[in-house]
Amino acid sequence: MRLEDPKILADLAALGVDHRRAVALSELTSLGIGGTSDLLRITRHDSLPALVSLLAANGIPYKFLGGGSNLLVADGDLPWVVLQLAAPDPNIVLEGNLAHVDAAADLGRTVTFCAKHDLGGMEGLIGVPGTVGGALRMNAGAYGMQIGTYVREVKVYRAAARNIETLRGHQISFEYRHTSFAPDDTMLAVTLELPSKSYKEILQGIRICNEKRRSSQPLGQKSAGCIFKNPPGASAGRMIDELGMKNLRVGDARVSDRHANFFVNSGRASAKDMLALISNVRERVHQAYGVALENEVIVWNA
Ligand code: EPU
Repeated sequence: MRLEDPKILADLAALGVDHRRAVALSELTSLGIGGTSDLLRITRHDSLPALVSLLAANGIPYKFLGGGSNLLVADGDLPWVVLQLAAPDPNIVLEGNLAHVDAAADLGRTVTFCAKHDLGGMEGLIGVPGTVGGALRMNAGAYGMQIGTYVREVKVYRAAARNIETLRGHQISFEYRHTSFAPDDTMLAVTLELPSKSYKEILQGIRICNEKRRSSQPLGQKSAGCIFKNPPGASAGRMIDELGMKNLRVGDARVSDRHANFFVNSGRASAKDMLALISNVRERVHQAYGVALENEVIVWNA
């Protein structure tokens, strides 16, 4: 959606919002897929309630973008504007074993920054692309750990009440790729409480996870990580692989030949191609195993 009304543009500027016109979301997503929309970059958390009120008062729908690494965005001219937090500098402040991190901070950089200050625990997340806010919302995890374990406090914008609240860790439930946040809650900042470990020891853990990831996942290719959640007690990747669907394609959307739960954009795949591939695979897994795979990737339909 394009914003043209000079009054709205002036109000946005007054809120410190950086308005970027006709941005290709394919440039902002790791899948390299997505149509065009205006992008509103938020430089001050406290402007968010007023920004959302402004959009609501003018009937402008919006969606919140994190790092774009677990997201499949529809093609074409999109019927909403996209909001994104701009990361402040610095975006991580340490205080003993606590790390106060802005939601827009890069997850990998956060893991290595904390490691350099002898704070560990998050080694498994090292190769996971995206922001800390996105990781929190989905309770990102890998190699036996999940970010939720370390959450002490979260500052969140609650769209339902249009206010900013700070929640304590025990008020939030973190489950496998799921949290108790409302769908329209937006993560703004988090305080993590991390165990002390020597940099050397953390680095060793990081190296092992990197090696495992490199040997089993298509890291150099455009993907959104795993497409489906693992059903209880089973592996979506193994099921898809066992059905011989590696390399299955619709246009340039393709099941990775390295890890069958990664679907890659091997050229100029559209959202339509990727959605068709997802639905083919889901259908065949359902027929063969009677299991209805649930998306892990977030889909923004137009
Ligand atoms: N497998 C196959 N063929 C494949 C892929 C996997 O046979 O094409 C087998 C593996 O050999 C292994 C089993 O399936 O025996 C599980 O595979 P893997 O260890 O790769 O783990 P996964 O369950 O497929 C999960 C997470 C990943 C995370 C890894 C490592 C989900 C949906 N996926 O994958 O997370 O990186 O464990 O901890 O939970 C993501 O969330 O986007 C993601 C990639």
